[in-house]
Amino acid sequence: MDKLTGIAVIGTGYWGKNHVRTYSELVAEGIIDHVKICDINEKRAQELGKAFNIEYLTDYKDILSDPDIDAVSIVTPSPTHFPLAKEFMEAGKDVLVEKPMTMDYTEAEKLTEIAKSTGQILMVGHIFRHHPAVKELKNRIDIGEFGNIRMMSSNRLSYGAPRKDMGVVYALGIHEVDMFCYLLDVEYPKNVTATTLCSLQSDIEETAMITMELGENTTAYAFESWLMPAYGKQRDLVVVGSEKAAKIDYLKPQELHIYDIRIEETDFDGKTAYSVENEGDYIIPIPYAEPLKEELKNFVHCIQTRERPLSDGFIGQRAVKMAEAVLESAKTGRKVSF
Ligand SMILES: NC(=O)c1ccc[n+]([C@@H]2O[C@H](COP(=O)([O-])OP(=O)(O)OC[C@H]3O[C@@H](n4cnc5c(N)ncnc54)[C@H](O)[C@@H]3O)[C@@H](O)[C@H]2O)c1
Repeated sequence: MDKLTGIAVIGTGYWGKNHVRTYSELVAEGIIDHVKICDINEKRAQELGKAFNIEYLTDYKDILSDPDIDAVSIVTPSPTHFPLAKEFMEAGKDVLVEKPMTMDYTEAEKLTEIAKSTGQILMVGHIFRHHPAVKELKNRIDIGEFGNIRMMSSNRLSYGAPRKDMGVVYALGIHEVDMFCYLLDVEYPKNVTATTLCSLQSDIEETAMITMELGENTTAYAFESWLMPAYGKQRDLVVVGSEKAAKIDYLKPQELHIYDIRIEETDFDGKTAYSVENEGDYIIPIPYAEPLKEELKNFVHCIQTRERPLSDGFIGQRAVKMAEAVLESAKTGRKVSF
């Protein structure tokens, strides 16, 4: 049998643990050969290594020249993504780096250049592109089922302590800015306007309101907050077209809610009148698949075939550029155009 893929997870904190669990499932399914883990927190690495019966290390440099490791998932704090991803690609490893790809556009650009010059796969953890309900929605938008998309709206709300490495724009809003462009096949929005609230620390915003104008007369709104106790953990997306609308609850990958509803325009005595035509709503059931597992399977597929990932370096780089624009708009109070 040909050698299967060996993968190491660098960083096994809150989110890295999920990469480890998911790769362990892929090992059990015979999709990859083995997983190793690395965390500078030895206790954490040891415990997880024991729980999944896998080898653990505490110095990522030991993986750079490990012939059994073809690729790494980098799930460390965001400011460390750039140096780690650079070093691993230069050492000949394929890289999946979590979002945000970097905290700086120039660094993101450098990583895509390195991927191009070394031929390494560079993927960024824009997990919602791999969400089954998003895939279904995107297919339906692409075939014109929704007509012209007029508005999109997304909420990511919860109540909790702020992250140490970044505010809501890089932690959450980065998902939205990518998703809005992805759904409409737009390279960049026309412009972005945003306000943020930093109520605890001056450099870590806990709330952001983002408005993006994109495509043909489409406006998209995102509301991100760690300061909203009223709705539990809310993660949703609403897309409103001229023919139909849809809602995704990101926490329910197996459902796409369709609203067969539209505004009809009629001429009456030389005046335009508007009315609502509502033919009801229904849920499209979708076979359950865990978004992270879909993402990691896409990564493994690309390692093995050298195909381009669904969320490649350019996607990550572009999202960083848009996140920077969001923060610039919030700081200056001005619209930022692309
Ligand atoms: N795609 C998603 O939906 C999603 C969700 C959550 C977090 N994330 C991203 O994942 C990344 C990690 O977030 P988290 O919440 O798991 O953080 P975390 O602080 O819980 O975990 C980070 C881990 O990295 C380890 N680490 C730091 N430097 C290291 C190094 N040089 N070598 C090895 N280990 C090192 C730390 O000891 C820690 O265990 C962030 O970039 C975050 O944006 C993505």
